[in-house]
Amino acid sequence: MILALVNLKGGTGKTTSAAFLAHALHERGRRVLLVDADPQGSALRWSEDAEVWPVATVALPTKRLHQRLDDVAGGRFDDVVIDTPPLEENAGIVNSVLRVASHVLVPVAPTPIEVERVGAVAEAVEDSAAVRREGEAPRMALLLTRTVPNASSTGVYREVLTTAGHRVLPGEVRRVERFAQAWGDPITRAAATAYGDALDALEVPA
Ligand SMILES: Nc1ncnc2c1ncn2[C@@H]1O[C@H](COP(=O)(O)OP(=O)(O)OP(=O)(O)O)[C@@H](O)[C@H]1O
Ligand SMILES: [Mg+2]
Repeated sequence: MILALVNLKGGTGKTTSAAFLAHALHERGRRVLLVDADPQGSALRWSEDAEVWPVATVALPTKRLHQRLDDVAGGRFDDVVIDTPPLEENAGIVNSVLRVASHVLVPVAPTPIEVERVGAVAEAVEDSAAVRREGEAPRMALLLTRTVPNASSTGVYREVLTTAGHRVLPGEVRRVERFAQAWGDPITRAAATAYGDALDALEVPA
């Protein structure tokens, strides 16, 4: 699996999701490479600052990523997780990622502004089919993140997004301190979080 975390906007939880998903895969015994394709390098710096970081992590912030990933991964990994810059800021890199991803996961909060922009991401994903070797777009799914427990917004926007034809993964990543404060520290028990459930929904082998 080559799983890309993509969104139009900044600050939607791409880096947090990429890091937790990569660790959840590692905890399940998968050989996983985390690729930081964001020139800001937040995922790479997280991996450097954390005292323990069992996931192989490299920076590849280039619009040639689709040509270089094979050489970088060298056939040594079961899964690659790619953190990307916001599509609206760096379409060159994100479009390159979309050429090689098998799965695209869009972290989105149940708020009007984030939900409204999902369509633009879906368009970019669909457009990638024209330049992909398979001629088919990667599988795209949405992951509700930063949800507020017991708020009606979660159900309301799940329904809105599903009705619009999007695949919304079951379960959601709640807005909690554990994720808000995670950056820079080691990640443990990632598979026991909602990110583990997200992997189940993506049908990644346990
Ligand atoms: N589930 C969550 N609960 C609370 N805070 C969260 C959650 N997920 C992410 N955050 C916080 O939201 C902020 C943005 O998250 P993150 O850096 O992962 O987003 P991003 O999409 O990678 O941003 P950028 O586009 O700037 O790279 C961070 O401060 C992060 O700690
Ligand atoms: Mg980021």
